[in-house]
Amino acid sequence: MKVTVVGAGAVGASCAEYIAIKDFASEVVLIDIKEGFAEGKAMDLMQTASLNSFDTKITGTTNDYSKTADSDVAVITSGIPRKPGMTREELISTNAGIVKSVAENLIKHSPNVIIIVVSNPMDTMTYLAHKATGLPKNRIIGMGGALDSARFKYRLAEALGCPQSDVDGMVIGGHSDTGMIPLTRLATRNSVPVTEFLSDDQLTYVREETKVGGATLTKLLGTSAWYAPGAAVSAMVQAIACDTKKMFPCSCLLEGEYGLSDISIGVPAIIGANGIEKIVEIELDDAEKAKLTESADAVKKTNGLL
Ligand SMILES: NC(=O)c1ccc[n+]([C@@H]2O[C@H](COP(=O)([O-])OP(=O)(O)OC[C@H]3O[C@@H](n4cnc5c(N)ncnc54)[C@H](O)[C@@H]3O)[C@@H](O)[C@H]2O)c1
Repeated sequence: MKVTVVGAGAVGASCAEYIAIKDFASEVVLIDIKEGFAEGKAMDLMQTASLNSFDTKITGTTNDYSKTADSDVAVITSGIPRKPGMTREELISTNAGIVKSVAENLIKHSPNVIIIVVSNPMDTMTYLAHKATGLPKNRIIGMGGALDSARFKYRLAEALGCPQSDVDGMVIGGHSDTGMIPLTRLATRNSVPVTEFLSDDQLTYVREETKVGGATLTKLLGTSAWYAPGAAVSAMVQAIACDTKKMFPCSCLLEGEYGLSDISIGVPAIIGANGIEKIVEIELDDAEKAKLTESADAVKKTNGLL
């Protein structure tokens, strides 16, 4: 299993580190346009191998795509992150050109690659990667829901006063402060609905804090977060590498599912060796359906800026 990570910045390097530590890939190639940057990050990470007990080989390159040849999975994190007060949508003018050229370069050297898009605005960048490459819909996946769901579980566990391992929950919809739909109705603590433990006010608090989870961190850090995003991507790469068939909410190109078409947006999907093995259509209540429609309208509006 060869994995390319485009962009050796905060998220790219964190993702490479988690992939290496989990030790399921033979090789991770970091690639960046900043001269020497990916090589430096790769060398630094390789010097943790004896300490962290992994055998994954991590190499770096400055924009030489021949080094990424025959990758099984590629992660696109290249582009600019948001600064405090910015929305993800404001990154579109810079990131669209980067994501398009990166996706085209990747498939030139790795015709069978499965691409995970991370760069923001992620749903629109995933849609753009589909349009730019024409790859089958199972081979381009946007990472947003895995991270948003992890943030949801963090907030649920906090409200419940329990370990996160006791909690299950999922966020669907667009990966934006207003588009995310944390499904509190379906969230559980050890199979008991969280609605049995938390008041409406507490559930509203959990939902709202989840939706602004990225913005909260951006304000604290001065730039967007990287540990949880890196961990979320690495979990998806692992599901592909190990063909686990794990279910993640992720940005999938829809062709009628959930009544939506010609859009990439967060819905539950089974992830395995073929990338998106299956989009899972769960029964939403009327309020959730209305929120998904509203979220999709906002994503389509951003797609219109391409
Ligand atoms: N989808 C998500 O859940 C999620 C979560 C966090 C961050 N993000 C997004 O991921 C992206 C990266 O965030 P970051 O914090 O790692 O930013 P960063 O600035 O730390 O890293 C980005 C890297 O991309 C490189 N780069 C720029 N253009 C390139 C190109 N054409 N080819 C190769 N490399 C190129 C830069 O040199 C830089 O090293 C941002 O768009 C951010 O908004 C998405």
